[in-house]
Amino acid sequence: MRDDEVARLLLAWYDIHARVMPWRVSPQDRAAGVTPDPYRVWLSEVMLQQTTVAAVRGYFRRFTELWPSVQALAGAEDGAVMGEWAGLGYYARARNLLACARVVVADHGGQFPDTEAGLRALPGVGAYTAAAVAAIAFDRAAAVVDGNVERVMARLHAVTEELPGAKGALVTLAGRHTPQARPGDYAQAVMDLGATICTPRNPACGICPVNGLCAARAQGIAAELPRKARK
Ligand code: ADE
Repeated sequence: MRDDEVARLLLAWYDIHARVMPWRVSPQDRAAGVTPDPYRVWLSEVMLQQTTVAAVRGYFRRFTELWPSVQALAGAEDGAVMGEWAGLGYYARARNLLACARVVVADHGGQFPDTEAGLRALPGVGAYTAAAVAAIAFDRAAAVVDGNVERVMARLHAVTEELPGAKGALVTLAGRHTPQARPGDYAQAVMDLGATICTPRNPACGICPVNGLCAARAQGIAAELPRKARK
């Protein structure tokens, strides 16, 4: 399989099927020159860790109404932010959220760093969030790897090794497929594919834009992957 063929097919699929989300710039708007607001991308990606898109929507709307910019959030009372976070869980994320907003304002003039390494140095920004913000907000060719992407890569390449051991191999594969052109749309295309077609159970391989390249489908084992070590 040519590495760039997957990106080409997924981007063509995304141009038609991209899900609409309040923090997302559609592929059409992006092509017309609209750039995402890094604050909104960062906020959404922090909220989306361990929380579903459906659950995040309302929280995202309230947060951005109350605090429309990183400056506004940095100036918020701790208690007000923790109160609005209630229900999303993982309260360390909310504390890190505020710490991060304050560092961006105090040390970076209110502008998020535009590289993966620069983002990674911010409080609470791990490998996933740094790559996601670099790709989606700044169109950097960062390999964005969440559970959806792991599943898509495991199936595409029929990686039968168990997670978490297989993680490194899946990250390498994700990096190989990440295109230099439109990496932000590509990252979101893979996540949308994983959420809507390449689902954990009963994947809809019949309508998958990369089914012709999928090694697991060819072997009839797509639904079994990725394998996970018993806890
Ligand atoms: N899950 C986490 N981030 C996402 C995004 N930007 N698009 C779709 N699903 C996601």
